[in-house]
Amino acid sequence: MSKPHHYQGLVERYRNRLPVDDSTPVISLCEGDTPLIRLNNLPKEFGLDVEMYVKFDGTNPTSSFKDRGMAMAVTKAAEKGAKAIVCASTGNTSAAAAAYAARAGMTAFVLIPEGKIPMGKLAQAIAHGAVVLQIRGNFDDGMRLVKEVADEAPVEIVNSVNPYRLQGQKTAALEIVEALGKAPDYHCIPVGNAGNISAYWIGYSEAAGRNTQSCTLCNGNCPYLDNPLTDSRPVMVGYQAAGAAPFMRNKPVENPETLATAIRIGNPQSWELAKAAVEESDGWFDEVTDEELLHTQSLLATKEGVFCEPASAVSVCGAIRDIKSGKIKAGSVVTCTVTGHGLKDTATAIAGKEHVETIDAELDSVKSAILQHV
Ligand code: F0G
Repeated sequence: MSKPHHYQGLVERYRNRLPVDDSTPVISLCEGDTPLIRLNNLPKEFGLDVEMYVKFDGTNPTSSFKDRGMAMAVTKAAEKGAKAIVCASTGNTSAAAAAYAARAGMTAFVLIPEGKIPMGKLAQAIAHGAVVLQIRGNFDDGMRLVKEVADEAPVEIVNSVNPYRLQGQKTAALEIVEALGKAPDYHCIPVGNAGNISAYWIGYSEAAGRNTQSCTLCNGNCPYLDNPLTDSRPVMVGYQAAGAAPFMRNKPVENPETLATAIRIGNPQSWELAKAAVEESDGWFDEVTDEELLHTQSLLATKEGVFCEPASAVSVCGAIRDIKSGKIKAGSVVTCTVTGHGLKDTATAIAGKEHVETIDAELDSVKSAILQHV
């Protein structure tokens, strides 16, 4: 009989690097341990002289990276004895909050912008039994309200202003360093509310035994530096959708607009932490248009077999452009976070595409259809 090998999620996996102890009631759906997929076809097609990978976090239990942060945030809420959690969301955080609350026997209240979250994400929140509050406003309005209500009602905020969210999400960087045996040279990532870029930088810094200003939990005195995995940190590159790019404008954007609804955010909560990540790593922010990001979403799906949602394609989209221009140096190892699964938003994925041919149920029809395409 072989030894049982049941992966039990990131809190157990990284127990010695997370703020938990033996009495903490771990709430997990076996999140994390997601694939780091080497891109073969796109670098060849575009003549890119780099080793390029995607960290496909769309393979988490609710199909986005939010499960990493939610596992930790709900675990800590449970430790405190909380009965309810609350978040504002463009969809993925609400899906994860709903699922982890169900697991923990808590109530999840989720504030979503009316008409601006895809059906897949809404279905998740409803299916897991969250109380869905659709607001006549955008994500930034929801965020403001959530912070206000947390002072007046017995609910724990599980947006990334909750530092445990970032602790959970830092594990993606640890997984990447372990998979490569070293840190990548560049890490490219979509930026919306700016929690994830901050969390990766915490993870990469910890992996290299270094403190960072991006961590709000330890205030420059990280307790997990004794056990480094590598000696270097990547350059962090954050990409935004052009209609929702406050880091490029250097101020909040009043009415953010993008088809990448997950990152339709004008006033990122982790502004300072994300800025610190980019500055400490000698990185940069940039923006991509909706047309560019949808094209990359399609390329990833049709050329690499990776189906992600529009916001997730932003990292690969920006990376390809910066590799082509030489801003990302030839010969580098480049990792890109692909944050959510394409099944979250099928309407955008197939919009404007001639996707189905209807034929008679006859051998000849099938045969002639095949011959037309090969
Ligand atoms: N990609 C996806 C698929 C997202 O859902 C989000 C954020 C991001 C990227 C940006 O990450 O906010 O840490 O910079 N979604 C949040 C939500 C806001 O409510 O689901 P970030």
